[in-house]
Amino acid sequence: MSLLIRGATVVTHEESYPADVLCADGLISAIGQNLEPPTGCETLDGSGQYLMPGGIDPHTHMQLPFMGTVASEDFFSGTAAGLAGGTTSIIDFVIPNPQQSLLEAFHTWRGWAQKSASDYGFHVAITWWSEQVAEEMGELVANHGVNSFKHFMAYKNAIMAADDTLVASFERCLQLGAVPTVHAENGELVYHLQKKLLAQGLTGPEAHPLSRPSQVEGEAASRAIRIAETLGTPLYLVHVSSREALDEIAYARGKGQPVYGEVLPGHLLLDDSVYRDPDWATAAGYVMSPPFRPREHQEALWRGLQSGNLHTTATDHCCFCAEQKAMGRDDFSRIPNGTAGIEDRMAVLWDAGVNSGRLSMHEFVALTSTNTAKIFNLFPRKGAIRVGADADLVLWDPQGTRTISAKTHHQQVDFNIFEGRTVRGIPSHTISQGKVLWADGDLRAEKGAGRYVERPAYPSVYEVLGRRAEVQRPTPVKR
Ligand code: URP
Ligand code: ZN
Ligand code: ZN
Repeated sequence: MSLLIRGATVVTHEESYPADVLCADGLISAIGQNLEPPTGCETLDGSGQYLMPGGIDPHTHMQLPFMGTVASEDFFSGTAAGLAGGTTSIIDFVIPNPQQSLLEAFHTWRGWAQKSASDYGFHVAITWWSEQVAEEMGELVANHGVNSFKHFMAYKNAIMAADDTLVASFERCLQLGAVPTVHAENGELVYHLQKKLLAQGLTGPEAHPLSRPSQVEGEAASRAIRIAETLGTPLYLVHVSSREALDEIAYARGKGQPVYGEVLPGHLLLDDSVYRDPDWATAAGYVMSPPFRPREHQEALWRGLQSGNLHTTATDHCCFCAEQKAMGRDDFSRIPNGTAGIEDRMAVLWDAGVNSGRLSMHEFVALTSTNTAKIFNLFPRKGAIRVGADADLVLWDPQGTRTISAKTHHQQVDFNIFEGRTVRGIPSHTISQGKVLWADGDLRAEKGAGRYVERPAYPSVYEVLGRRAEVQRPTPVKR
C-alpha cells in the first residue's frame, strides 16, 4: 500500500520546502523532488497546499463517565471527527474512581478505545493515593506505555487530588521518568463559591464563571508549579485559561523551570458573555471548566503562545448534548462540564492565529502537533515529516473555507461553541497510517483502524533535570 503526495509545500515546525512525499506501509518512505510512484501507488495532487504533520490532540475525553452521565462522543465518532479536522492522534484520559485500581481502569479504557479510527494514547489520572497506586503507576510506565499522570485540583468530593496526593504522585513521577499534569483550579474555593452562589439564588449557567474566577486557577497553578519546582519534576498544565495562570508559568519558566502550558481554541476566542445568553440551553452549552473568561484573558493567552510560554493546543473534547446539560436546570453546579472541539481546533487556530498574523505556519505546526509529540515522547514517530515517521499527515488548503455548525459537523453532539464562525484554511485531506481517510468532505474513517501508541518514559526534559539534580545534590557536613 503506497501513497504519493505530489507538489505540496511541506511545512514542519522549523522549515518549509516544496517536495513530494511517498508513504508506504504506514510510514513516510521518501521525501524528494519528482518522486516516481511505485506500481499501484495512489497519487494525490497537493499543489497550492501545505503538507503538515497530522494534528495531535493531547486532551480529549471520549465516552467519559462524568457528573452522573457519559460523554456523548465515543472513541470511533470522536477520532473520526478528528480526522475530518486534520487530527490524526489523540491522548485521552483514563480516570479511575477513587479507590479503584489504576490498571483495572486502564484496561476498561483500552477496551472502549479499540474502535478508534486514529491512533491514541492515554494519560492516567491519580484520584487517590496508596502504596497500590504507586506500584500501579510503575506498572503502567514499565509495561503499558503510559508516561504522564493527570491530577485534578478541582472537582471536590469526586476526583480531586489534594496536596498530599500531588506531592506523593509528583515524587513517584520523578522516580519513573513520567510527566505530571494538572487541571489547575482550587477545588475548595470552587466548592465554597458554588454553595454561596446557590444560596444567593444564582442557579443558572451565569453563575458558573462566578464560581471559578481566574484567581482560583492562578492559585492552583502557582501551587502545582511550586510543588514541581520543589521536587524537581517537569509540569504540564492543561487548559490554561487565565492571565493569572499564564503569569505563573511565565514566572517559573523565567527561572528555568520546565513548565508547559496547553491552551484551547475556545479560551483564545470566546469570552464569558456566553454564559449570559437569555436561552438557558445555549448558555449551558458553553459550561466547561475552567470557564470562558472576560476579554482581557484572550489577548494574554495569544501573547502566551507568541512568547513561547504556552506550548500546545488541545480541545478537552468532552461532549454533552442538551438533554444531558439539562441535568443542571435548577443548579448550575450539576450541568455536566465539557464542550466539543476536536474537529475545529486546527482550522480555528489557523484562521485566528495564522491568518491574523499572530502565528507563523511553523508555530502552527509546533502548537498543533510537534510540541505535544516532544513533551510526551512521541517525537519523531509523530509530529514530524521525516523518512521513517508515521505517515500521519494533513494536506492543508489555505484558501478553503468552512462555516462551523452543529448541523454539519461530524462530532456526536448537538452544540458547537464556534457556531456560525467561518474559517479560512481547512484540511482538504487527512492521511492516517498512509491512508487517505478524509478527502474533500468525504470521511472514510474505519472503526478499529487506530492503534494504541505506547509512550516511553523519560522524555528529553528529564536529561536536563537529571543533570541538574546531580549538580545540586545536597551533601552532608562531615563532622
Ligand atoms: O469541563 C471540562 N473541562 N470537562 C472535562 C473534564 C476536565 O476538567 O478536563
Ligand atoms: Zn480539566
Ligand atoms: Zn479535560
